[in-house]
Amino acid sequence: MPRLSRNHIAIGPSILSADFCRLGEQVAAVETAGADFIHVDVMDGVFVPNISVGFPIVEAVRAATELPIDIHLMIVEPARWIERFAAAGADTITVHVEAHPNLYRTLRSIDEAGATPSVTLNPGTPVVMLEPVLPIVRQVLIMSVNPGFGGQTFIPASLGRIRHVRELLDATNPTCRLEVDGGIKVGNAGKVVAAGADTLVAGSAIYAPDVDIAAAMRALRAEVTSEQAISRER
Ligand code: DX5
Ligand code: ZN
Repeated sequence: MPRLSRNHIAIGPSILSADFCRLGEQVAAVETAGADFIHVDVMDGVFVPNISVGFPIVEAVRAATELPIDIHLMIVEPARWIERFAAAGADTITVHVEAHPNLYRTLRSIDEAGATPSVTLNPGTPVVMLEPVLPIVRQVLIMSVNPGFGGQTFIPASLGRIRHVRELLDATNPTCRLEVDGGIKVGNAGKVVAAGADTLVAGSAIYAPDVDIAAAMRALRAEVTSEQAISRER
């Protein structure tokens, strides 16, 4: 996401937990509340045991906001669909290392389609699987839950994985963004930033029937900002 600077911790709501009957309104609400991007989870019922949304929703979000759209593809054969997602309005496209064998080619095709290439892996996949492609991506996403559903609990071992990837990126690709997705909320967002993340996805912490969107965004932002202040003092 080119418009973001490294010192700014980016927060992007995942619309997976939004009220789809009021999607435009819910996207506008997070934009007003200071969201840095919109995260869209695409699931095919094969790569993960759930089916979510596709091109029409990406196009609808594109028409509803100026914010960058960060697409997380939890689908088999993602290479087939890169151009369509870029044309639908994606700014960043994330593919899973587990999804297919031609990872280099797919990441290059994301770049060629004019989007930011991003790579991710499931919590049970060793971080070493990322290493070959680190020089050619501009975002790495560490999944902190098994993908497929919103509202799951953050896996604590993710913190060590974030630290590990931060070290690898500092050594090989220091401008690459490090995103974390899954179970992010007040209480762990600061720890995730302290471990080295600069980009956070939050779904159910922001979009839930009993949650005030603006207050939830403020609370997450406050935790992240205070962690940054503490880190600067260290
Ligand atoms: C899970 C998705 C996440 C999900 C996050 O498969 O990739 O983006 O929407 O939702 P929470 O923040 O509720 O874990
Ligand atoms: Zn996601």
